[in-house]
Amino acid sequence: MTKTIVSVVGARPNFLKTAPLLREFARHPESIKSLLVHTGQHYDYSMSEAFFQDLELPPPDFHLEAGSASHSVQTAKVMTRFEEVALEVRPDWVVVFGDVNSTLACALVCAKERIPLAHVEAGLRSFDKTMPEEINRLLTDQVADLLFVSEPAGVDNLFREGVEKEKVFLVGNIMIDALIQFMERADSSSVLKKLGLNPGTYLVMTMHRAGNVDSQENLMQLVRLVHSISERAPIVFPLHPRTARNLKQFGLMDELQSCSNVKLTAPLGYLDFLFTVKHSLGILSDSGGVQSETTYLNVPCLTFREVTEQPVTVDMGTNTLVGLNSDQILLLVDDILNQKGKKARSIPLWDGQTAERITEVLLNH
Ligand code: UD1
Ligand code: UDP
Repeated sequence: MTKTIVSVVGARPNFLKTAPLLREFARHPESIKSLLVHTGQHYDYSMSEAFFQDLELPPPDFHLEAGSASHSVQTAKVMTRFEEVALEVRPDWVVVFGDVNSTLACALVCAKERIPLAHVEAGLRSFDKTMPEEINRLLTDQVADLLFVSEPAGVDNLFREGVEKEKVFLVGNIMIDALIQFMERADSSSVLKKLGLNPGTYLVMTMHRAGNVDSQENLMQLVRLVHSISERAPIVFPLHPRTARNLKQFGLMDELQSCSNVKLTAPLGYLDFLFTVKHSLGILSDSGGVQSETTYLNVPCLTFREVTEQPVTVDMGTNTLVGLNSDQILLLVDDILNQKGKKARSIPLWDGQTAERITEVLLNH
């Protein structure tokens, strides 16, 4: 019997997590009818369409065009529009990814309409409820019927929260599936030539967490820090739209643009980003995904946060949590530039087979 599986994407990190799974679904045409919903949470070419091209994703079967708004309005828009799709299709499974507003919105619709829900990247906890992502993770996991977890701490978190053991599967990190699948294509990227940089000579920076970039004071501190670091090594800094908007609003863009050793770019496509990261000396970031990508690639990563939902990247990987402590950050940057950055061990189940394990469970449930 064929199962109809609806996968939901909305924001940049979702696209990479879906690509390996859709590819795996396509290997089972007799058992799976796969449909893709794009909520439209991210909509700029560089935040959405560019990923569909790089990751060879099929065009969405349904586009909800929810766009940007306050958290409640955005979540509500996705809910009302996804409800129509869910009722029209009545899928056997809906699969949601990660921790963005679109994830929770569609999870709630499934819970209310009693449509079976699978959550990929379940169980991760930062234990910081001021992060919108933490609320999205906690609530999505409460209503999911299958919870696919990327690292052991996630399993412990779910059991502690009372989630039934039979629903939880430690399957590994699906972002690493994408990285492994697309690295060969990324290797022919010409992005470094375009930026005028040689491999192994520069740092990369990404910054977009509301907690870091929505406050004028924090953003000013970040710009000053970037200036100091750029005196030590060139920095490639693709600007997330939230960060670009706030830099302009707080009058900080000119100061950042005047740092001659900082290569400011639009958000990079996935293949260019992977290539840039792979050949960098190290990364400064507050991203979720970058923490696991750098661990897999064995590139040192300084994470501008006090907590992480992915402790394995600190315990076994290249990740160091640095908050916004400028003195400590400059010391750690010097370590990286002197080849003394953290080295990674290989992480069990981060092997490129996560999509296969998820599909097997979905088909047999
Ligand atoms: C969202 C996720 C965050 C994730 C990030 C990945 C939530 C609560 N947050 O944060 O967990 O790490 O995506 O990148 O879901 N904007 C544009 N063009 C776009 C998209 C956004 O200009 O294509 C601007 C708008 O001004 C918008 C702002 O960016 O208001 C924030 O977008 P939003 O999707 O609300 O949150 P992100 O910061 O992108
Ligand atoms: N990314 C990209 N281009 C960029 C910045 C990020 O392709 O300019 C990719 C990168 O692989 C990262 C993923 O987008 O892991 C997720 O992005 P983001 O950091 O926005 O989201 P988070 O993981 O923090 O939710």
